[in-house]
Amino acid sequence: GLTRVFERSYTGPVYSDGIYLVDGEGNRITESALSEGEKLTVFPEPRPGIEKAPTLLVRHAEDAYGGETKTEYTVGGYAAYSKVCTHAGCMVSNEEGETLVCPCHFGKFDPTAGAKVVGGPPPRALPQLPITLSSDGYLIATGDFNGTVGPGGD
Ligand code: FES
Repeated sequence: GLTRVFERSYTGPVYSDGIYLVDGEGNRITESALSEGEKLTVFPEPRPGIEKAPTLLVRHAEDAYGGETKTEYTVGGYAAYSKVCTHAGCMVSNEEGETLVCPCHFGKFDPTAGAKVVGGPPPRALPQLPITLSSDGYLIATGDFNGTVGPGGD
């Protein structure tokens, strides 16, 4: 799987050093983009090696997050997880209530608990992408996913 997708590691709160998240049309994402309970497929703004990093941006009440969620990776109720299923690499694109569902073999992930597996064959959680708000008001990634993207890895 794709692992190290950023050119260098995040070293501190230098927000201009983050990578803008963009939607399928390349538009940056403002803090008001989603309401609680909504989700959106985004991409870290293209840089060498990260164009294959489709990402699910979700928004929930800030106090809804628990379990394995890295809350230091969330901002304003937003969390971002790899969209690539850890089972066989399909795009996790469906929902059952607040549960994220992979359409291939019905793997299920809880986005309020670190995208841990709550059903089906996936062997591990969807890796989380650390995000914050840039000084100019857009969602940015401040580092790499916290695990291997897609099948493989541990
Ligand atoms: Fe997602 Fe099999 S590829 S459940």
